[in-house]
Amino acid sequence: MNQSVLKAVNLNKRYTLGRGHEVWALKDADLNVEKGTWLNISGPSGSGKSTLLAILAALDRPTSGDFFYFGENLSSANDVRLARYRKDKIGIVFQEYQLFEELNALENISMPLVVTSMNKKQRQEKAMTLLESVGLADRALHQPRQLSGGERQRVALARALVHNPEILFADEPTSNIDKKAADMVTTLFQTFKEQGNTLVIVSHSHELAEAAEQQLHMEAGRIQ
Ligand SMILES: Nc1ncnc2c1ncn2[C@@H]1O[C@H](COP(=O)(O)OP(=O)(O)OP(=O)(O)O)[C@@H](O)[C@H]1O
Ligand SMILES: [Mg+2]
Repeated sequence: MNQSVLKAVNLNKRYTLGRGHEVWALKDADLNVEKGTWLNISGPSGSGKSTLLAILAALDRPTSGDFFYFGENLSSANDVRLARYRKDKIGIVFQEYQLFEELNALENISMPLVVTSMNKKQRQEKAMTLLESVGLADRALHQPRQLSGGERQRVALARALVHNPEILFADEPTSNIDKKAADMVTTLFQTFKEQGNTLVIVSHSHELAEAAEQQLHMEAGRIQ
């Protein structure tokens, strides 16, 4: 039987601004993602895609509703449990990359491994393998400001995968790169999936959407 990795039940997210102004970024969202699945999320700007990702990645709490990781209800979990989930089980690529500006590409990628039992040499080797897989072996020593936007995006992607997470969450991971680099990313995702891992990707790229076996479309905070 297939295992559910992520399940959301009736998720709602309300953002409240001053003077009674509120936005329901997520309305009654339900989803189920099985282990080893590639889910692609699409929808217009402002439809709640990043909000959904942030909740499933435990970066933000839902206003109401539940989400489960392998059957464990994380919407009622404490901060320590959620921090462990983020550190060990998932990799995240944000829309704005969020690289460490003072570290070079290799150091950025190997950063999540500092807390593991790997020594420095092993960490560097692992990071280098990932840099190669995104076509940036010759940019290892560049700091983010010495990289192009698309190169930064690929470094962020490599960093999100370096600790072999169970799930990769990525928000428009190929928005800044050309066809050749996007092909490398697709191959990297496919390999990750073939190892039994799960992908939750927000993307409008036809190529990525086609490679995904599960599609989900959002409109005004609702999953269609
Ligand atoms: N911190 C916040 N406070 C108030 N409203 C917010 C906040 N974050 C997002 N929103 C609103 O919630 C809605 C959903 O935002 P979200 O970032 O999830 O959209 P999106 O689908 O990712 O859009 P895009 O494709 O442009 O990235 C938007 O209307 C946005 O203005
Ligand atoms: Mg977004």
